[in-house]
Amino acid sequence: MEKSGFTKILDAIRGTQVKDIPGLIWKFHQRFGILKTLAILYILAGFTFLWLKANGLWFKKSVIGKHVFITGGGSGLGRDMALILAKKGAKVTVSDINLETAQETVEMVKSSKGKAHAVALDVTNPEDITKAHESAKEQFGVVDILINNAGITFGRSIVNSTPREIDLVYKVNTISHAYIAKQFLPDMIKQDSGHVVTISSAASTVGVANNADYAASKWACFGYDESLRSELRKMGSKVKTTCICPYYINTGMFEGVKSKCPILLPFLNQNWTTRRIINSILQEEPVTYMPFMVNLNGLLRAILPTCVFDSVQDLVGTSSGMDTFVGRK
Ligand SMILES: NC(=O)c1ccc[n+]([C@@H]2O[C@H](COP(=O)([O-])OP(=O)(O)OC[C@H]3O[C@@H](n4cnc5c(N)ncnc54)[C@H](O)[C@@H]3O)[C@@H](O)[C@H]2O)c1
Repeated sequence: MEKSGFTKILDAIRGTQVKDIPGLIWKFHQRFGILKTLAILYILAGFTFLWLKANGLWFKKSVIGKHVFITGGGSGLGRDMALILAKKGAKVTVSDINLETAQETVEMVKSSKGKAHAVALDVTNPEDITKAHESAKEQFGVVDILINNAGITFGRSIVNSTPREIDLVYKVNTISHAYIAKQFLPDMIKQDSGHVVTISSAASTVGVANNADYAASKWACFGYDESLRSELRKMGSKVKTTCICPYYINTGMFEGVKSKCPILLPFLNQNWTTRRIINSILQEEPVTYMPFMVNLNGLLRAILPTCVFDSVQDLVGTSSGMDTFVGRK
């Protein structure tokens, strides 16, 4: 019986020492020709690269002595990022609309011998942004890493959302990123180093029933990040950008939401997610989707007819996940 391509590949691998990589490549070349060998090498290298990055095993920059500014640092991911980055030697400015919770984070950092400073900042207010930036610079100098993390949701259907809620969601989740970049970028451009991090969401890759304004605001901040990257590239700047797109995380922001398909799309653990975000920043990844399946949304959208794409989304629960939303109390 004619052997399948996969069996032929296994046969080619069998009996070859791992250390004999050139020999293995030569075997492939002899059996499958140059094009198939290059295609296999490309796929293997791609998966190895993704695996190394996902596990934080790629090159990582140091944050020792660097000044990190975090918005929404009074709880959830913002607080955890502050704690981890301070442990790694960064000086952290923790900002939040709620100064008390920002100060709590700072106390936690200080109790593990880290350096941190709290500032009150409502990210929707440009005057607040200027003041918070000045206070941060006075304390720790020019900001090296800016993490736009503050975010909100009301989890309502389109007809039940109030104009005030709709305005606030866009202002906090999207417009603030433009205000803050305008304030913080000039220093980074001047010193030709720095890093702007955008905490977007997996909701920036699909439409989400009963969370339309949130999803749209996250699509917009994804687009803002990509445009910023394009602008920095155009000017030949060394300032980096990273956009983070996680699925639901158990921080409490999406309390009550259920994943209909936990095997493919599990609710993410807060500690794991924070570590993955930190690795993504330190590895200077331009975009990080988590879990891996979220990467496929772009591909599925491109290759499937819209009605099939929508059915896939219904199947994995994008249109029903928010039905049980309670949110933060
Ligand atoms: N939790 C999730 O499932 C999830 C999933 C994907 C993306 N995200 C995003 O991750 C980020 C952090 O989420 P989290 O789960 O840690 O939420 P969280 O509610 O624990 O933290 C959000 C923080 O933002 C602060 N904040 C709210 N409005 C603000 C304002 N106007 N100015 C300044 N600070 C303000 C809050 O006080 C709070 O400390 C958000 O941008 C969120 O959209 C969360």
